[in-house]
Amino acid sequence: EDAEKGGYEQYMLKEITEQPRALRKCLRGRVDEEAEQVSLDLELERESVDRIHLLACGSSYHAALYGAQLFRARGIPAQTFLASEYGDRALAGDTPLVIGVTQSGETADTLGALRAAQAAGAETLTITNTVGSSAARECDHALFVRAGPEIGVAATKTFANQQTALHLLALWLGGGDADPSHIAALRAIPEQVQSILDDDSAREVAAELVDSAAYFFIGRGPQHPIALEGALKLKEISYEHAEGFAAGELKHGPIALVTTETPIIAMVTGDDERARKTVGNVKEVQARGAPVVAVTDGKANVEQYAQHVLSVPETEPEIAALLANVQLQLLAYWIARDMGRPIDKPRNLAKSVTVE
Ligand code: G6P
Repeated sequence: EDAEKGGYEQYMLKEITEQPRALRKCLRGRVDEEAEQVSLDLELERESVDRIHLLACGSSYHAALYGAQLFRARGIPAQTFLASEYGDRALAGDTPLVIGVTQSGETADTLGALRAAQAAGAETLTITNTVGSSAARECDHALFVRAGPEIGVAATKTFANQQTALHLLALWLGGGDADPSHIAALRAIPEQVQSILDDDSAREVAAELVDSAAYFFIGRGPQHPIALEGALKLKEISYEHAEGFAAGELKHGPIALVTTETPIIAMVTGDDERARKTVGNVKEVQARGAPVVAVTDGKANVEQYAQHVLSVPETEPEIAALLANVQLQLLAYWIARDMGRPIDKPRNLAKSVTVE
């Protein structure tokens, strides 16, 4: 087993580190820089897709929430459902394209929801890491994320590759053409992720934050699912109380929990309206004495309200959410590592849950 870990103490850190390579594989042959086009090997009639339902559990659900935003931004109505809550309610009337996002392709809740959708006549597609899985075999179409095997229970490289595959699918369904700067931004992801991996800041910030009462993550737009995922990652492997919120919702309840003992990890990328509003939310928690960790590309000047900064390179707003997540993976890893947790095999959790 030690040999398979390639010198890393934990599979999770190995898998985090493998992301640039895994992302290159996901993009290979699917993004044509010269033609400025995305091409996917799917026998799906693009014109027939007029709305989408995404179904998933756990981290894959957060990737699906992110994906729905990408589809909607390209004019395709898309809704995300927890697979265990899908039931038959969403199937009345016309049938959408139903996309099951599942790393393993074996999650019972997701398979159950996909089967219900098929029984109701919907066309199904799975975004999965596992060729030959039940989801890949049973769905009408499969888009493989090509992350390679993931052993650590907490999803890392498969999540980044799901985000990338969803991005490719959204561009493809939107017609395949993307503006040249967007294509260049997609192709730059592996290198930008590498630059985050080369930065030691998350380890240093983790050492400062360990022993906090609770950890709250906030983000808006594409960074909202990342706030949810960052909190899930931290709670899974550290057993600490962590919650993710839409930045705008803080004032509607969660801010009652904020004290000097509750770090707020805020994703603030770009300098658009959303970023400016999130900076406003950061000011509110800072005024209440909460330590703030800003995950930022520096464009919105949030640093002045933050005790700690985790940097991400500048890119398109949607891609910034993938980069920010890598800093959150590292933060969760180092907090759990400082606490001596069994990172690859957290108590009570399984890599793939085959019961409903
Ligand atoms: C389990 C794992 C999670 C994962 C979820 C969905 O709960 O511990 O990390 O996100 O299943 O798995 P899937 O294989 O469907 O993506």
